[in-house]
Amino acid sequence: MTIHPSNTVLVEDMPSKSISSTGAQIEFRAVTKMYGALAAVRELSLTVRQGEFLTILGPSGSGKTTALMLLAGFIAPTSGDIRISGKSVGKVPSYRRDQGIVFQNYALFPHLTVRRNLEFPLEMRGIKAVERAEFTDRMLQRVHLEEFGNRMPSQLSGGQQQRVALARALIADPPVLLLDEPLGALDRNLREQMQLEIKRLHKEFGKTTICVTHDQDEALTLSDRIVVMRAGQIEQTDTPQALYDRPATRFVANFLGEANIFDNPGFELQSDATPSTGTVAMIRPERISVASVDAPKRPDAERRQFVTGVIADMIYAGPLRKYQVLVGNSVLAVREHVASDQQIFGAGDKVRLDWLRSDLRFVKV
Ligand SMILES: Nc1ncnc2c1ncn2[C@@H]1O[C@H](COP(=O)(O)OP(=O)(O)OP(=O)(O)O)[C@@H](O)[C@H]1O
Ligand SMILES: [Mg+2]
Repeated sequence: MTIHPSNTVLVEDMPSKSISSTGAQIEFRAVTKMYGALAAVRELSLTVRQGEFLTILGPSGSGKTTALMLLAGFIAPTSGDIRISGKSVGKVPSYRRDQGIVFQNYALFPHLTVRRNLEFPLEMRGIKAVERAEFTDRMLQRVHLEEFGNRMPSQLSGGQQQRVALARALIADPPVLLLDEPLGALDRNLREQMQLEIKRLHKEFGKTTICVTHDQDEALTLSDRIVVMRAGQIEQTDTPQALYDRPATRFVANFLGEANIFDNPGFELQSDATPSTGTVAMIRPERISVASVDAPKRPDAERRQFVTGVIADMIYAGPLRKYQVLVGNSVLAVREHVASDQQIFGAGDKVRLDWLRSDLRFVKV
């Protein structure tokens, strides 16, 4: 999406507001958006707490952008209601919803300098030139772009443009910040750097933030809570740790991290818990240890399951070693952090795997 300053809204249309600095509560109540027969978003109900950083995570086409656009007011729901600070915004046009938005493609005004890009939202709110300049100076400092005010967007790197986009979203101090794949176009290092930057800004500004991404690391790093979406519906909502450690469904287990799912293991799986019907056992690769078959067992051996297998593959991935191990009918993924005194196994080696029985999880099929 591109926005142009020419889509100008009359200043007198704007709510007169003084710049404040708290987040707002956001509520989706059974919101559905139909495109013909397709429900891009179906019966979405969700409350985002004041000041919370919530990430919507899901595969392509799962309805993430649609949910954000509904909240921003760029599209209207087919049914349901959206409330901001307790008030329905059904009849409030997008430019009055008081939200800072960052799109995936930055959408900076290419023909305006960085300063003018930042001043634009303030101008829209009828803020006087002297104050605009002050706010802009302060914001440039906060995102460490003091020296870049007079440059054009095309004269900035991707990460710098991204910081300008964030600064522009924040400058009018909206209670709500909406980010759609804000770091999608950046390379890995820069993305990690910018994740920390976003985290810092969230801490500092306290905005209620909804961030859309399909990058699970980003979601885990940034969020107070994560909503996992699938085909227009919420699959699970929880804290990053709870989602990773206790995924409710196979879909979540697979989408957030790697999972060994025991559909038909070909060996007897020991468990302390009684699985409920319609679930399947799952274990995370880093919960499995690998050792040579005759290695001494650990002191907590009675709480563990031991199986023997054969290494099918070993991938050296920087600080991690990733093994694929044939056990019964299964190929188990095992991840080990590299330690200096560790034995390294190669394809064809016979090994013993073990894990705590309490590390098994049961997820809905
Ligand atoms: N204007 C539209 N007209 C018809 N179908 C649409 C429209 N916008 C979105 N859709 C459909 O709605 C579904 C959800 O789209 P949405 O853009 O919300 O997905 P997303 O989760 O953001 O995906 P991505 O990760 O690829 O950005 C998709 O199947 C998409 O094709
Ligand atoms: Mg999208």
